[in-house]
Amino acid sequence: MADKRIFNFNAGPAALPLSVLEKIQSSFLNFNGSGMSITEISHRSPLFDEVINDAVARTKRLLNLDDRFHVLFVQGGASLQFAMIAMNFLGRGKTADYVNTGTWSTKAIKECQIQNKPIHVAGSSEDRHFSYIPEALDLNEEAAYVHITSNNTIKGTQWHSFPDTKGIPIVADMSSDFMSRPLDMDQFGMIYAGAQKNIGPSGVCMVILREDLLKTAEEHLPSMLKYATYAAKNSMYNTPPCFGIYTVQLVLQWLEEEIGGLEAMVALNAKKASLLYDFMDTGDFYTPTAEKTSRSLMNVTFRLPSEELEQKFIHQAAEKGLGGLKGHRSVGGCRASIYNAATVEGVKALVAFMESFEKENLT
Ligand SMILES: Cc1ncc(COP(=O)(O)O)c(C=O)c1O
Repeated sequence: MADKRIFNFNAGPAALPLSVLEKIQSSFLNFNGSGMSITEISHRSPLFDEVINDAVARTKRLLNLDDRFHVLFVQGGASLQFAMIAMNFLGRGKTADYVNTGTWSTKAIKECQIQNKPIHVAGSSEDRHFSYIPEALDLNEEAAYVHITSNNTIKGTQWHSFPDTKGIPIVADMSSDFMSRPLDMDQFGMIYAGAQKNIGPSGVCMVILREDLLKTAEEHLPSMLKYATYAAKNSMYNTPPCFGIYTVQLVLQWLEEEIGGLEAMVALNAKKASLLYDFMDTGDFYTPTAEKTSRSLMNVTFRLPSEELEQKFIHQAAEKGLGGLKGHRSVGGCRASIYNAATVEGVKALVAFMESFEKENLT
């Protein structure tokens, strides 16, 4: 089975480590000697307790989280978080700062506006088509939090350091770079990530929330839209996405035991990204779309000399087992998503293909 797999550069759902998929496969019919699949056991059983508690413990170890932080599993994807954050933390009289770095930040802002929450756009890179991360921010010292999108999946930009918000907690959408590098968690009140890019399948969103921010949350909200419900019930107020959480647990185990943690992970991610960017920078056939200092280590977005060549490139790459290189439909072009599970071998194969494609199509 493994030899038929392609090098998968999809943006999400995206590649998972092969060893994780094999573990799921081998235990799928009989999970831990239970005689049942993980998809068939009760979320109230000790067997599942072990899964979710291990996933939480590994998250805490990998990110060096102290007891101030809750690790939660929520459904509804990162998109529901856009709305929940505003519901929970922007009660009457409260405001927040948002930095707009592309489609996903714009959507996060929109969910505040739908709820008539008075937020302030403290920075934006819209003036240059979201091709960079803005440095100068107009922060409001009354803000309840500062919201950023740490990695912009569509435009291929990433925050390489985080703004000094003078103690105001940063709330970060890390959907497309969660667990890809170590973090100084002191700056963050909350981080959240749809799992389907770096840590698992779709259907589960991880939320890491600091107790002092949680304490400020609104009380009068529906149970499933309140972070306090998830924190009080170990994310099991209702039936959680068990299979998703199990896969996340295995990916975190892979990160710790096979990769060796986030320092080792970011070194690998930097290596993969420089293979691609360095190659593209040597000529002018491929043009990265993000400004140099803001380039993402996760989503490498680029253009070819014409749309016809881009289509040919994507098509021929797929024929050679290099899949998922089409840019997001809203921007076109090409995109290689090289999340944690993308291998150095796969990126080298992509660069080799790019080299030969360029030679054949240079006019
Ligand atoms: C940075 C970012 N935020 C949010 C989302 C939306 O995530 P979901 O589909 O889990 O709602 C995506 C999806 O691609 C994303 O890349």
